[in-house]
Amino acid sequence: MKGIVLAGGLATRLRPLTAVTNKHLLPVYDKPMVYYPIQALVNAGISDIMVVTGGNSAGDFLKLLRDGRVFGLKRLNYTYQEGEGGIAAALDLCEDFAEGGPVCVVLGDNIIERNICRAVKAYRHQGGGAKILLKKVHDPQRFGVPELDGRRVVRIEEKPKEPKSDYAVIGIYMYDAEVFKITKTLKPSGRGELEITDVNNAYIDRGEMTWDELEGWWTDAGTFESLLRASNLVAETGANKLDEESASAGGAAAAGGGEAK
Ligand code: DAU
Repeated sequence: MKGIVLAGGLATRLRPLTAVTNKHLLPVYDKPMVYYPIQALVNAGISDIMVVTGGNSAGDFLKLLRDGRVFGLKRLNYTYQEGEGGIAAALDLCEDFAEGGPVCVVLGDNIIERNICRAVKAYRHQGGGAKILLKKVHDPQRFGVPELDGRRVVRIEEKPKEPKSDYAVIGIYMYDAEVFKITKTLKPSGRGELEITDVNNAYIDRGEMTWDELEGWWTDAGTFESLLRASNLVAETGANKLDEESASAGGAAAAGGGEAK
């Protein structure tokens, strides 16, 4: 399975912090924001990773991340998203990179306390379709929100005024190669973007979506409040923690092994 970190977009919500630099280069406690989603993939044993950047300072990603050695990688792949066409538009740029295989997509401003090893392992056994991760939040209106019927996700609404659950769909998604057929059918939403929620609803309509609940805390870092919260959480407890059990469940690279397929 390959990994994709989406670090495009213009991050207007964080201006003036993002007037001259890219949001994902801003500090979250002691590291640049983009370190966290890359480490989350590496900890899950995913070592072939594409970074999609865009907007301001795209060249600084190369200066900062170089060949990925700091994460124990042999190389990193980069591409550039023109404009701010949406999360699904950024993902669509990775079709050739995926080479027909499954991908784990992480939004560049999502930070987790623990790891996704078990979810990645479960997705590998699923043998196709998609998997999302959910987390209970106090402000679901800010996110994609699932309507659940037991273990089944019925529908996801993007930033609903009246959320149908108190779960957020976090920005870590697993897809088979069908995702690149789906991205090509999407129409821009009210905010003029190709929405990842529409991709997820397409998998739900096909009956090919599963979900797991994420362990440990999760936050995005795309607003002033959540950027501060992210720094405080990382300072207090650390991020991307890998226990022995989860490492053996899926974190081959993190445990010193090779690339997990
Ligand atoms: O954080 C989880 C939430 O992320 C989900 O619950 C929502 O369903 C999902 O739509 C998304 O919501 P946001 O409105 O918070 O997404 P935002 O526009 O902040 O973009 C999140 C990341 O996606 C951003 O850090 C970089 C990447 N991105 C975004 C856009 C719009 C791109 O790479 N290209 C883009 O054009």
